[in-house]
Amino acid sequence: MHFDLAQIPQEQAYKLLVGTVVPRPIALATTVDLQGRVNAAPFSFFNAVSSIPPVVVLGIGGGEGTGDGWKDTERNIRDTGEFVVNLVDEAMAERMNICAVDFPSAVGELDIARLSALPSAGVKPPRIAESPVSFECRRLTGLSLGARSVLEVGRVVHIHIRDDLVDPVRFYVATDKMRLVARMHGRGWYARTSDLFEMPRMSLADWEARNR
Ligand SMILES: Cc1cc2nc3c(=O)[nH]c(=O)nc-3n(C[C@H](O)[C@H](O)[C@H](O)COP(=O)(O)O)c2cc1C
Repeated sequence: MHFDLAQIPQEQAYKLLVGTVVPRPIALATTVDLQGRVNAAPFSFFNAVSSIPPVVVLGIGGGEGTGDGWKDTERNIRDTGEFVVNLVDEAMAERMNICAVDFPSAVGELDIARLSALPSAGVKPPRIAESPVSFECRRLTGLSLGARSVLEVGRVVHIHIRDDLVDPVRFYVATDKMRLVARMHGRGWYARTSDLFEMPRMSLADWEARNR
């Protein structure tokens, strides 16, 4: 089957995209507004896109019912130039989901979801104590993708990893112990990252030896 995206409603194109690009990692982004009020919201249009420099991106859509048509996260990143990405494990998955409720801007999602804020080392938005990993980010740019769609690009300036998950000498991360969750198709489906298999990377010499 073939779909010309100019010929189908945007909602159907959305379903095709999010039903196929899976699993997607989840960033529970914390930001502050100009009054210093803390906001938290999950984003699965999220990834790390560069290591030198270390850069992550968030794809943020429009906010229905908000005064200016933008989600609090986008407005706060634009106003302050900072955000923290907190990764989400199985233990905090339900609390992440509470943060996605369309609360009014003045409502602090962290309190309602019973998540705890810890001060960050180099940016104003706090990190989330329950997250196994947090990235403190400074905005590099925001790329407008359409009338109500922005790609926020942030340089990672500090990384926090729970002590039991990292070897501080060799920098090995126990990714299998982290038990992160990821978003699948539709609004309510998630995957665990515990179904692993190994496939060693091949050099050209390996490939040639295999095909001799
Ligand atoms: C798992 C999950 C992933 C989400 N991913 C995105 C996303 O990538 N982009 C987006 O604009 N909204 C996404 N949302 C919806 C936002 O989290 C939701 O609109 C939230 O209320 C925005 O909050 P804010 O106005 O405080 O920024 C996602 C929701 C969930 C539950």
